[in-house]
Amino acid sequence: PKVVYVGGSGQEHAVDGAVGESVMATAVKNGVPGIIGECGGNASCATCHVWVRAEFAELVGEPDDLEQDLLEMAVSEPRDSSRLSCQIPLSPELDGLTVDVPPQQP
Ligand code: FES
Repeated sequence: PKVVYVGGSGQEHAVDGAVGESVMATAVKNGVPGIIGECGGNASCATCHVWVRAEFAELVGEPDDLEQDLLEMAVSEPRDSSRLSCQIPLSPELDGLTVDVPPQQP
């Protein structure tokens, strides 16, 4: 599935990911700027924060309680569309998933 990462000034990075791999790991592997993934995908660093585009919100789903707490406490600009990208595994249905990358990570 393809994932599109959009940076603050509108620059897009479209990359091909593997089913089951996270949106964070896909970004790091492909050198997408702005997604760090310091904790390696354990939902503890919040340096993989993204904003999921509205048209994918339902498909991606809601964060669990632990992730929600981190999003509220640790990211620079939490929004309703905020997710930790390490907690979004790619699936065929998510092909074309588009996320906005925040200008800064915690
Ligand atoms: Fe650390 Fe996602 S990589 S919270």
